[in-house]
Formats: sequence, C-alpha cells, structure tokens
Amino acid sequence: MSTEQPLRNSPGRRGVFRTKTVEQSIRDTEEPEHALRKSLTALDLTVFGVGVVIGTGIFVLTGKVAKENAGPSVALAFVLAGVVCGLAALCYAEFASTVPVAGSAYTFSYASLGELPAWIIGWDLILELALGCAVVAVGWSGYIRSLLDNAGWHLPTGLQGTHAGHFGFDILACALVLVLTAILVLGMKLSSRVTTVVVAIKVTVVLIVIVVGGFFVTGANYHPFIPHSVGTKAGGDIKAPLVQLMFGFAPSNFGLMGIFSAAAVVFFAFIGFDIVATAAEETRNPQRDVPRGILGSLAICTVLYVAVSVVVTGMQRYDQLSTDAPLADAFKATGHPFWAGLISFGAAVGLTTVCMILLLGQSRVFFAMSRDGLLPRIFSRVHPRYGTPYRSTILLGAVVAVLAGFTSIDVLAELVNIGTLFAFVVVALGVILLRRNRPDLPRAFRTPLVPLVPVLSVLASLWLMLNLTAETWLRFAVWMALGFVIYFVYGRRHSRVP
Ligand code: ALA
Repeated sequence: MSTEQPLRNSPGRRGVFRTKTVEQSIRDTEEPEHALRKSLTALDLTVFGVGVVIGTGIFVLTGKVAKENAGPSVALAFVLAGVVCGLAALCYAEFASTVPVAGSAYTFSYASLGELPAWIIGWDLILELALGCAVVAVGWSGYIRSLLDNAGWHLPTGLQGTHAGHFGFDILACALVLVLTAILVLGMKLSSRVTTVVVAIKVTVVLIVIVVGGFFVTGANYHPFIPHSVGTKAGGDIKAPLVQLMFGFAPSNFGLMGIFSAAAVVFFAFIGFDIVATAAEETRNPQRDVPRGILGSLAICTVLYVAVSVVVTGMQRYDQLSTDAPLADAFKATGHPFWAGLISFGAAVGLTTVCMILLLGQSRVFFAMSRDGLLPRIFSRVHPRYGTPYRSTILLGAVVAVLAGFTSIDVLAELVNIGTLFAFVVVALGVILLRRNRPDLPRAFRTPLVPLVPVLSVLASLWLMLNLTAETWLRFAVWMALGFVIYFVYGRRHSRVP
C-alpha cells in the first residue's frame, strides 16, 4: 500500500502522521492574535546569522579541541564541519523558502513528514536552542569574570558557577539570560538593532585575531600538523566516540579519527545558521531573503573559522593552548597583553548576541508548537503592543536562566550537537519527501541535485553524530524518550490538525 497517494490527494493524513498543509501553515500566521510582525530583510538575516554563529565554538572550543583531539589539524575539522553544514544549509534553504513560517525545522517537518516527526524535531530543537543558549551564557560569564579579574574585582566563589567539581551558582550567566529575555519581549526591531552593533564588534575582533595574529605565527608550531594517534583511557568506553566502539577500535585521540572527533565538537561553532530559518515569518520577502541569509552567514563563518584556527595553532603550540580563552591567551603567550584584553572584551560582547538569538529561536519554536496545540495554546498569544510571543519568551527565558546558573559547558555542547545533527537529518529527508508529495509548491530556492545532496547531507550528519561519545548518545536517547511521553499524553490529543 502506498502512503504517497492519500497525502497528495488529501494532505491532512490521520493519526501521528497527519500533516499540516503548507497553505494551512501560512494561513495560521495571518490570525491577528497569533501573528508576528514582518520587518526583516536579507541583510538583517545575514547579520542575525553571523550574530549567532560566531560564538563559544570559535572563541572557546577551538583551543580545547586542538589541545585534546586534533592539534593544528583542527583547521581541517572546521572544514569538515563546514561541509556538513553547507549540505544541510542547501536543504534548509529550500524548506525555509517553501514554508516561510515561524518554527524552522519543526514547521518544515509538520508539512512533509507528519505530526509525530514534527514533534520529535520541535522537541529536539528545544534541546539545541535551550542548552546552546545556556552553554553560551556560561562561556560569556567566564569572559566577563576574566575582565573583572583584570580590574581587580572578584566575585565570591559560590557565585562563579560550577568549576572543577566545586559547585556554585553562575550569577552572571543567569542575569544575562534574564536581561536578554526582557529585550526580546520588548520587540524584534530593538533586538535586531542591538545585534547589528554587537556583530560588528565581534567580527572586528575575529579579524584582529587573523590579521594581527598572523604576524606572530611560528612555522615550527605546525609540525606535526596531524599529531600521531594516542590511546585514551580516561572515563572508560562511555566517553569514547560511538563509531570507535562500533568498529572495535581502541579509543584514541589525534590522528585521522581525532580530526573526525574534533569536527563533531567544533560543529557547535556553526550552530545557528539554521536559526535564521526560524525568523522566516518575520521576514519581508522570505522566498528570496531566507536562503540568502542562511547561505551567506554560513559562508562568511567558514572562512573566518579556518583562518582563526590556522593562526592560533601557529601562534602557540597546540599542546599549550588554553582551554578557557584560547584566542586571547595565545596573544598573552606571545607577549601581547593589549591585544589579549581587546579580544577578551570583544568576545564577551559578541557572545551576548549569540545567547540572545538562541533564546529568540527557541521561543519561536515553542511558539509555533503551541500555536499548533502540541503545547498549551496560552503560550502562543502575542503581546498586544509589542507584537512578540511574550509568554513563550518569558517561560523559556526563566528555564534557560536557571540552566545557565547551574550547568557547566563541556557535556552540554556535545548534547546540543547531537540534537542539531539529528534535526539536519530530518530536514534533508523532508526535502526529498516534499518534492515527491508536493511538487506543485512554489520554491524560491531549490536544493541542487535532489536527491543526491539531501542524501549526502543525511550521511554526513550521521557520520558526525557517530563521532560523538556514547555518553552523549545515551543522554540524547533519554531526552527523546521524555518527548515521546509528553506527545502521547498531551500533544496528540490537543493538536489543532484534525
Ligand atoms: N555557533 C554558536 C557558538 O559557537 C552557537 O557559540
């Protein structure tokens, strides 16, 4: 029996695979009480994309990964992760230009794969965005503390967050999330103006690292470019990449496999270009501008990341890089504290927008799920004056503030990555399905070489997922299981799709 025919004739399939039609998705955005304001352009979206993409990944994880997994070949890891994201971006861009409503991959899956897959994606995106935001807030807090220390001010240890096994509440990270939540409730335009200024500062700092740092590179630091593979015992098998366990390799770092493990971690540095798609509903001309915004911000970031990692591993030997503030510390190590201070300041400013946009994307996904009845509808009322989904923004802002206060970075970044890669897999499959089931829909941007590009995107994303640790897979499975329970207990019964 073919499932294709009923879908084409009557797009609203029944049960957990019922789909929300694309027309219905667009119509929902026109209900005045649940409609967002349309004010963004392609440039706003690119700034928005670069604003969220450049963050903790390049400012913090580069050093950690070069030191522990890949050495100078971390630059190759960035290229690999960039290619995986490029393939996914080509799929995201087609979806975003076909279904220009809030909610990103969630909305796309609802129109193509059905309600349960859409719920899974939405639930998964909440993980990506909420934990991602908490991770970045904690990273931001670290940079601020380092600046405060320079000025001779020290926070009490109990308010510095959890470090090296010592429990503490991270008051700065928590405060940042609360302030950003308030800004988002007041309106998109304000936040996008703030974003533009901050993005300019952040990109300038990255360019300083590349151009100024370029003068302090020592060629000998690139030997060996790909350090020899070294076995690891720390933490046992659960801490090893799943792929190494599957194929019975002894867990190891560096070498060829080290580049893949590094790519699976620095992938975090690219997260965010997909979030541009969550703002499609607030874009004036989504058909044209969303693909431009997504591909533009991804291309800019890939070039910058490769350049930064080449320069930093050339400035300081990989095994001596710092894991807290590697970019600034490489300047200190080469005797240039002025540049180090400037970079720390710019990084702290830059991480603010990353945090804000992750928060924004998250509230929009939650908003879209609530508008569809899969989460309580009271969260999708927009503010009568500001036109923002204030209830979902405030609820999630509060949850992320608490998470940011109590969590440490390492574990969470990997969990964010696995969730995002999983979403990429579903979106790529969605492109293929929607081409088959709704060939009639206008597509301002068409993914080239379908089904080849989406299939490559699925394989590439799965490969990176396999290079994450077994522990991360386990945590991800628990989160998804919880999502299934909520869907069958609440969402399935309250869905607005008949
Ligand atoms: N890509 C973002 C970062 O690196 C999430 O912080």
